[in-house]
Amino acid sequence: MIADSPSTTTRIVTLTMNPALDITTRTEQVRHTDKIRCGPARHDPGGGGINVARVAAALGASVSAVFPTGGLTGARIVELLRREKVDQRHVPIADITRESLTVDESSTGRQYRFVLPGPTLTASEQTACLEALESAAAGAELVVASGSLPPGVTPDFYQRVSDLCRAHGALYVLDASGGGLTHLRSGVHLLKPSLRELRECTGQALETDDEQLAAAHELIDRGCAANVLISRGGDDALLASALGSQRFPALRCAPGSGVGAGDALVAGVTVGLSRAWPLPDSVRLGMAAGAAMLLTPGTAACRPNDVWRLFDRTSAPVELAANRR
Ligand SMILES: Nc1ncnc2c1ncn2[C@@H]1O[C@H](COP(=O)(O)OP(=O)(O)OP(=O)(O)O)[C@@H](O)[C@H]1O
Ligand SMILES: [Mg+2]
Repeated sequence: MIADSPSTTTRIVTLTMNPALDITTRTEQVRHTDKIRCGPARHDPGGGGINVARVAAALGASVSAVFPTGGLTGARIVELLRREKVDQRHVPIADITRESLTVDESSTGRQYRFVLPGPTLTASEQTACLEALESAAAGAELVVASGSLPPGVTPDFYQRVSDLCRAHGALYVLDASGGGLTHLRSGVHLLKPSLRELRECTGQALETDDEQLAAAHELIDRGCAANVLISRGGDDALLASALGSQRFPALRCAPGSGVGAGDALVAGVTVGLSRAWPLPDSVRLGMAAGAAMLLTPGTAACRPNDVWRLFDRTSAPVELAANRR
């Protein structure tokens, strides 16, 4: 493990098993066969947990990002994060860190996102990531794991992270895209699936609020998570917890790039929790951070001023009927 700073005590530690060098550009029209001439490229360090760390750091939290890195793309992520002054502990791997490409189409306002599977991680590299996480998480209050698992990583990896968090007394926040949710058994403090992910995980259509909350409460009843926050893009988010169900009104914003909105939501909630705020207030900060992502281009992190301004515009959650518990 290579650490940027010798200090090990941070309040929030993020884990990104499949980081990406995010490249954003624009073109007039996306077409097949022809060469597509693009505008200048913007490069950002990306992948779920890295995005969470960038937003949490922008909101003034003490945060450290743990992730594997390989090749020149990995080195570029390290350099870009350093420029943003985000503390990091990266684990060298043999294979090469992936790139992700987002192309904005000027003629239609559409966005095209190309996402690669990422490098294969060996068993010993996975163990090195867990060891780096363990050392960074010693004394941390919150561990956030976010994003897809790259090829080669055992499907129960996020459960192993859960066990590690429990051993260290850290609250575990999980936003697992792809199949990472399926092998989860216990120990998550806050699970943040998008509605799309919850549908994939349950294999159900989940058309109504009631059906979506019932699926979330089932995860709680099975012991997977204490709280489940279902994000639904520009629609209100739903929170299921042992106390019941709440709906958090979405903020109305001008349409913009929603890339990283879910990570910003997670970052806002985690920053609230790290300040010992009650969960509903923390979720409101998350809703503000998610919406603030729409105000910045491509994969750029949101601006703290936007988050705090939007936070003042969030409203209290709507308590839902007891029978939805
Ligand atoms: N159009 C929008 N208007 C206002 N807020 C939005 C909008 N889109 C996203 N958000 C904010 O960002 C949060 C997360 O968005 P979303 O549900 O799309 O998550 P996601 O994790 O990015 O989705 P997925 O992982 O499925 O791509 C929302 O709960 C909301 O707070
Ligand atoms: Mg997401």
